[in-house]
Amino acid sequence: MGLRGKVALVTGGAHRLGRAVVLELAARGSHVALNYNRSEDDAIDTERCAAAFGVRSLRVQGDAGDPSAAARMNEVVEETLGPIDYLVSCAGVFRRTPVETVVEADWRDMMHGNFETFRAAAAAVAPGMKRRGSGAIVAFGDVAAVRPWSEYLPYCVSKSCVLAHARELARALAPQVRVNAVLPGPVLFPPDYPAESSESEIRRTLLKRRGHGEDIARAVAYLLDNDYVTGAELPVDGGRLLV
Ligand SMILES: NC(=O)c1ccc[n+]([C@@H]2O[C@H](COP(=O)([O-])OP(=O)(O)OC[C@H]3O[C@@H](n4cnc5c(N)ncnc54)[C@H](OP(=O)(O)O)[C@@H]3O)[C@@H](O)[C@H]2O)c1
Repeated sequence: MGLRGKVALVTGGAHRLGRAVVLELAARGSHVALNYNRSEDDAIDTERCAAAFGVRSLRVQGDAGDPSAAARMNEVVEETLGPIDYLVSCAGVFRRTPVETVVEADWRDMMHGNFETFRAAAAAVAPGMKRRGSGAIVAFGDVAAVRPWSEYLPYCVSKSCVLAHARELARALAPQVRVNAVLPGPVLFPPDYPAESSESEIRRTLLKRRGHGEDIARAVAYLLDNDYVTGAELPVDGGRLLV
């Protein structure tokens, strides 16, 4: 049984961690819709790779943080693949914003790209899940939501909001819909991330190595599949939170 035959929507699904989630769910037999905003070429490639697992797949362009775009995304997926069983809110925005130079636009971008993408996508899918009597949502937090970094304040705050909202949704949507969060540690660094910072992040894990997209994707699949888990925050961080 497991995830086979379910319909999953993954926001930010075109590349990197989102792509790993899309391919993990497709490999387990879920039909997958991947939402993307700007990365069309990557979205086309990820959709093609998902379809190679023999499942139905779909790519949906749109700003997941815009409530009307999120509602349209929900409609398109339901018309094409059927009722959505799972939402994985992987969309995110990340950049260094030292407190001395942080500007309003940084706050808006981080809150929009990290928090609003989760809030709006969850608001679009939750009523249908609740009405049908089942569904599961996975939010993407970050260990930095729990142990904030001083040079990434808006990012850390936006991810704390994601975790707070996921907990509240777990209460509000129970017992029909389960809501959980995954907290990745150092997995895929942005291409422009300074090497000394990534090495220092890795040193500050118990396992002394970075994770892989598949580690996160397997954790997402577990949270979607395990029918007795809701309101959980699962670090997949090589032990970073204990250091
Ligand atoms: N990478 C890590 O090691 C790590 C660690 C901790 C937490 N995380 C979290 O895990 C998630 C994925 O990380 P990542 O490194 O793979 O992210 P990433 O490379 O920065 O990609 C972010 C994705 O989010 C999408 N996105 C951003 N704003 C959007 C919007 N308004 N509407 C729709 N899509 C939007 C982007 O889509 P387009 O490219 O199509 O515009 C992109 O595919 C993020 O939430 C991140 O905060 C990652």
